[in-house]
Amino acid sequence: MSSTITGAAIIAGVCGAPIKHSMSPLIHDAWIAAAGLDAAYVPFAPAEDRFEAFVDGLRGGAIRGLNVTIPFKERALAAADTASDLARMAGAANLLIFEADGTIRADNTDGPGLLGALAAQASGFDIAAAPVTILGAGGAARGAVAALLLAGAPQVRIVNRTPARAEELAAAFGARVVAADEAALPGLLSDTGLVINATSLGLGGGAGPAAPLELTPAGAVVMDMVYRPLRPEFLRRAEALGRRTVDGLEMLLRQAVPSFEAFYGQAPPASVDVRALALRHLGEA
Ligand code: ATR
Repeated sequence: MSSTITGAAIIAGVCGAPIKHSMSPLIHDAWIAAAGLDAAYVPFAPAEDRFEAFVDGLRGGAIRGLNVTIPFKERALAAADTASDLARMAGAANLLIFEADGTIRADNTDGPGLLGALAAQASGFDIAAAPVTILGAGGAARGAVAALLLAGAPQVRIVNRTPARAEELAAAFGARVVAADEAALPGLLSDTGLVINATSLGLGGGAGPAAPLELTPAGAVVMDMVYRPLRPEFLRRAEALGRRTVDGLEMLLRQAVPSFEAFYGQAPPASVDVRALALRHLGEA
């Protein structure tokens, strides 16, 4: 938080339940301090059944905006008056902007976060060159599908423990997205350019998805949305096979960039090493 908050400060925040473990205040406030802004970024934890009332009360610009996290992302989209294509396609919003005219605008920066992480950790990777395989069919998978389609992925395959959820997700997106059986994974992986773990497997240090990564082409990229631990078992397996990997922490850090720009009207200062800051916070450095 800036040391010089005045009555003119721009206020934004993050809203979730629970919110205690969010790293967003750490990231945004480090940027605010480095940029010397008269601004603050704070955590909010409304009661779960009061989310809509909380958001409604901010209309008219009581604060500039909110990031929204679990479990409110779908309800955030529903609470907004207008939404970006990406938020609509993802079926969820992680960013709400409170306009001065009383309206609420929804956006989703998780997708750009995913693409930004790919660009940062797998530079030169061409999303349009080969199909993508996503493990999981929850909210995180849905957001990834939306971003990958807009970025030109020729096909996105969804594989999920519960096949009906994969089919439902594929049906919502049209012909470029297909649901596939876990049994079909070996065939799918053999020509995939990018494999993404969008399940919660591996969170907290357990085993990740059992996908046979050795069947992926040598140039394939393997990404994991799990970032606690930083190197989940799925990524360690990919790394041992010599595949390029992209971690969930980079995705988290990258989604914060367009949010900061929307709140404070400028890019985050490049002088802050937010990755090092986050790694220290996670006890990984
Ligand atoms: P999120 O919003 O983070 O995507 P979610 O909607 O709860 O969270 O989705 C979690 C994903 O992890 C789902 O794809 C889930 O599979 P199911 O649809 O079959 O529940 C997947 N998942 C969670 N635990 C799993 C496990 N033990 N084995 C396989 N998949 C698992």
